[in-house]
This record gives sequence, structure tokens and C-alpha cells, in this order.
Amino acid sequence: MTFERSRIADPSLAPEGQQAIEWARQRSPVLDGFVRRRLTEDGSLRGRRVAVVVHLEAKTAFLATVLADAGAEVIVAGSNPWTTRDEVAAALVERGIEVHSTRGATQEMWEVDLVAVAESGPEYIIDDGAELTVRIARDRPNLYAELQGVSEETTTGVARLRALESRDELPMPAIAANDAACKHMFDNRYGTGQSTLQAILSLTNLRLPGKRVAVIGYGWVGRGIANYTHALGGRVVVVETDPVRALEALSDGHDVADMMTAIDGAEIVITATGGLRAVSDDHIDVLGDSVVLANAGHHDLEIDTPALATRSSDVTEVRPGVSRYLIDGARPVYVLSEGALVNIAGGMGHPVEIMDLSFSVQALGCHLLVTGDLDPGVHEFPSHLDREIATAKLASRGIRLDLPREDQSDTLTSILEAESTGRRRNDD
Ligand SMILES: NC(=O)c1ccc[n+]([C@@H]2O[C@H](COP(=O)([O-])OP(=O)(O)OC[C@H]3O[C@@H](n4cnc5c(N)ncnc54)[C@H](O)[C@@H]3O)[C@@H](O)[C@H]2O)c1
Repeated sequence: MTFERSRIADPSLAPEGQQAIEWARQRSPVLDGFVRRRLTEDGSLRGRRVAVVVHLEAKTAFLATVLADAGAEVIVAGSNPWTTRDEVAAALVERGIEVHSTRGATQEMWEVDLVAVAESGPEYIIDDGAELTVRIARDRPNLYAELQGVSEETTTGVARLRALESRDELPMPAIAANDAACKHMFDNRYGTGQSTLQAILSLTNLRLPGKRVAVIGYGWVGRGIANYTHALGGRVVVVETDPVRALEALSDGHDVADMMTAIDGAEIVITATGGLRAVSDDHIDVLGDSVVLANAGHHDLEIDTPALATRSSDVTEVRPGVSRYLIDGARPVYVLSEGALVNIAGGMGHPVEIMDLSFSVQALGCHLLVTGDLDPGVHEFPSHLDREIATAKLASRGIRLDLPREDQSDTLTSILEAESTGRRRNDD
């Protein structure tokens, strides 16, 4: 039944996908431990229809199985056709979870997959980039009105949900999972930092020491990429539109410049702005001979590949995941993974340990939507849940923390007591 309802590439790939999911499970102690228990013990997810529309690889698949094990009716699609792993999709279907996704699907086919998920009438969505939510809002108002809640993975998606809210078009509660400390502080910064560099180096078979690397955008993602690049010997120049963040980049020891100055002479350009056309047609003449362009932001158009194609006499995939655009018939520019998120489309995505945190946030966000009786609008992820996740992660590493003692805190009472007893304080 599940197989007939699903659209996947090849069911015979399932054994490979099962192994990948099991690898993720074994290295996800928080999601497989206290979060799984929290979801299961009150039975609140039983029979709830939950759509998971996140990059479809092993860690996402493990999240889907945890929700299904808690009794939810889970349906899955990929949030970007270039990041879907067909073997993982096959494994989920083998486990009885409906999936609509194939790697490298056309934009039209991907949209059809999202419509199929929408038509299943999900009550809750675990979304990435709000890709499913905005499509249901735009194309299926009747289904949109029935949505009970959304938990959103990314910076871009939270911005989209807040935009809907400001237009009075968000009639259900949404959890800004991205804004949880246990998500963006680790996933956006360390996870994307490590995996973006890993993907660029393995796709190109290049090394970093001495290379000039322009990092466009110095938010959580840009910071991580810049710091990992620096650690591996690259020479970073940051481009930022926000002066405070630009100053932070300078204080972190990176060069800072405007776009034209930064890309002039850069050997690698990495975009992390969350917007569109950070590398646009204006920049093509300044891009260096044989420069490598890679994107880590949510949108495939952060590098304007259509503009590059317009200026190119030839576009050829010269290595897997490396496309050469021959600008004006003479100057090669290399784009990784078609401009999709390079760390996921061209690599293995975030380290498992990082996604254990991110997906624990998402799973608890979904549980909160089901149980919390929340008002419509975008909600912060509660800080006590962040602390529980962090505590469980530390415990999985055998680390326990001291509790603060009362006599260690500097309160007004302690000041007044010190003065009345004549005891000396040493305020700085
Ligand atoms: N690749 C991944 O696995 C991954 C993981 C997490 C987040 N993301 C995505 O990465 C993107 C960035 O996320 P973030 O958390 O760092 O966001 P953020 O909002 O913290 O940072 C983005 C930064 O880019 C700057 N910026 C915007 N447009 C610019 C431009 N044209 N030139 C220079 N700077 C510009 C902004 O001022 C901001 O400081 C988002 O799309 C997010 O969804 C990707």
C-alpha cells in the first residue's frame, strides 16, 4: 500500500538506506533516548498526520521513524530535489512510511511531490525553508486552514513564516526551531561550517592553505564557514551588508571587503546570505579565471546560475558535482552542485551528532504543537527544552554539570547583607 502511494526512484536500494539510517540512529543518543521517550510516553502523537519536508537523507529519515514509532502517520518529501538520497527514500517506504521524492527531480516534478504531500492533509508539518507551508498557503487554502502547526528548520523558513504572520496569513502556531539555541548555534555554525568545507574539498580534490576564499554573508552559517576555512589554512575575506556583523568578522581576524573587491582574486567564493543572487550577473566580469563557486544558503539561486549560463558558450559537468561555465567562450568558472546547498547536495550533510540536536528540537517542537495549545503565530522554542536537550547531549558524553550554589550569586540581598555586616566586597 505504502509503496503504491509513494513516488521513489528504486525500492531495491532499501538495504543500503536501512544501513545509513541505522548508522544515524546509533549516533543520535538524544533523539533516540529522551526525545523518543517524551514523544511516546503520553501517546499524543498517535494517529496525528505529520509531514516531514526536510533534505531527505539518513538523519532526516531517522527523525521520520521516531515520529512514526510514536504513532504518527508520517509522510515525507525532500525539501530540495538535489539533496534526496534515493536509497534512504527506499528504506523509509520499506518501513511503511509514504515518500514522494527522487534525487535530481525537475522543479516541476518536485512541486508535484509537494502537492502529493499537501493532498494527504497533514495536520502538522516539520518544514525546511517553509517550502511545503508556503505552497499550501498559496495553492490549497482549504488545506491551509486545517493545518494545526508548523515547526520550521531554517533561517530562511522562519523569515518566510514571519512574513506570512505580518500579513495576517498565519492562522496556526509555528515553532521557530531554527532559533532554538540547540539548533542554530550548532547546526548553522559548526555543522554547516564543517560539512561545507568537506564537500568543497572532496568535490574538487583541492586543498585550502594559501587560497583566497570569499565568504558572502557573516550570519551563523557564514561565521562557521569562515572559521573552518581559516582553520584549514584558507585566507578569508568576508562580504557583509550589516555593519555590526562585518565588524565582528574583522574582530574574528578575517579581512572584510565589498563584493567587487572580495571576489576580485578570490579562488573560492562561498555564499551564505539566505537571499537571492548574492553572486549575480554584475559580478561575472570580476570573477577570476577558474574560480570555484559554492552555495551554503537555502536558495539554489544564491549563485545566479541562469545568468552565468546566459554568458557561457558551454556548460559541462567536468567532475561529478562540478559544472564548468565557459564565460564568453574563454574563461572557466566552476559551480558546485548546480548552486544547491553544497554540503547536502554535494556531500553527506551535517555531522550526525549535530543533527541529533537539530532534530531533537524539531521533534520536541512537533510534540509542543500537538500538546501545547499554542496561539496562532510564530513562537520561540522554549528555553527549558533547549536546556533539556543540551543536558541530555552532555550526559551522552558522560558530562555532568555543577549546579550553581546560592552563595555564588551576586544578588541585591548579598550586597545589602555585606554592607550591614561590614564585610568587604570587591566589586569590579
Ligand atoms: N547549508 C546548510 O546546511 C544550512 C544550515 C543552516 C542554515 N542554512 C541557510 O543558510 C542561510 C544563512 O543562514 P544564517 O543562519 O547564517 O542566516 P543569518 O540571517 O544569520 O545570516 C545571513 C547574513 O547574510 C547577510 N547578507 C544578506 N544578503 C547579503 C548580501 N547580498 N551580501 C552580503 N551579505 C548579505 C546578512 O546581513 C546576514 O548577516 C539561510 O538561507 C539558511 O536557511 C543552510
